[in-house]
Amino acid sequence: MSTLTTAPRVNSAGKNSGPLTVEELQATGLRDHWYPVLPSRLVKPGEMQKVTRLGKDWLVFRDAGGRVSVLADRCPHRNAPLSIGQHLGDRVRCQYHGVEVDPTGTVVKVPGMPGCALEGKQATLSLEVAEGAGAIFAWFPATPDSKAPELKLPDRLASDEHTHFLNYVEWKAPWRYYLDNVLDPMHGAFLHADSHSMYRGDTTARFRIRETDRGFFFEKTDQRGQNFDWVEYVEQNGLSYVDLEIPYGPDAGPGGPFGIVGIPTPITENVTAVFHWRTREVTGWEAEVWRFLYKTTLEEKHWEVLEQDRMMLENFAVDADQGEHLYQHDLGVARIRRMFQAAAREQAKRIAGEA
Ligand code: FES
Ligand SMILES: [Fe+2]
Repeated sequence: MSTLTTAPRVNSAGKNSGPLTVEELQATGLRDHWYPVLPSRLVKPGEMQKVTRLGKDWLVFRDAGGRVSVLADRCPHRNAPLSIGQHLGDRVRCQYHGVEVDPTGTVVKVPGMPGCALEGKQATLSLEVAEGAGAIFAWFPATPDSKAPELKLPDRLASDEHTHFLNYVEWKAPWRYYLDNVLDPMHGAFLHADSHSMYRGDTTARFRIRETDRGFFFEKTDQRGQNFDWVEYVEQNGLSYVDLEIPYGPDAGPGGPFGIVGIPTPITENVTAVFHWRTREVTGWEAEVWRFLYKTTLEEKHWEVLEQDRMMLENFAVDADQGEHLYQHDLGVARIRRMFQAAAREQAKRIAGEA
């Protein structure tokens, strides 16, 4: 079961240091999207952590009471990284000259100059944040007036009928390569042919795209439930994700197939934070059995599969998505690239104030 709690909307304003170009948006990720930033368990109450996401540095700050915020990692005074400062329970103190900033990005104290006009100013960008399914999500605005829609968790993560584990990994590959990889189910029958879950089924197939009201399916027309046979791309309330199922063998215990919800969050243009929720539609004792088997045997096997993907993608050249020779199996890849290119063009125009 998942709970979703939304932090107060402290400040939705986003000011970029310069208008982002189409190329920058494609390299570091589309704005006006929710992205998972970190697994919740990595920032405990009273802790803070520096992360780079979408090409910029952020401070993930959890106050002593457990409420999380994501601030630009820049002190309002001279832009020193706040992450080098001290966590004071409900605010952070910059190490450089002691300026104190609260989770809304507002300066609460300038110790070297009491009464300074900076006090009370909301001068550090604070993103809208929501937490659910074991992850901290933040809304990355395209323009200062961009407001976040309510975060709607993917069905498998919001449903009481499913149980899940969040798997987090960082890959030295562009975030686009992650999506290309998942929109290409056919690699399952080759790259993962020796795995515990993708050894069955045909090594030839025909694919089709099937539109939905929230995205599209890319699926084999002649095989289902044997291998990695379909994937759905979903975009809902500003959250983009992929959803897919892979059959489980008898050693995975009772229950249906293995489900995956995947989201790549760009770190820099060549590094990606990959969030995979590994799910199964099981409740009660069956859920207990799966959770036990997952921890004792299945998790390691899933890691082996994921390592095959990582090894492949990290070894692609940075311009590997140029000059390819695509065939029918790559319709999903072509589709997702076109969608993101069009969205990046639209967003760059809007950011530059031309739309
Ligand atoms: S730069 Fe942070 S207090 Fe001066
Ligand atoms: Fe894979």
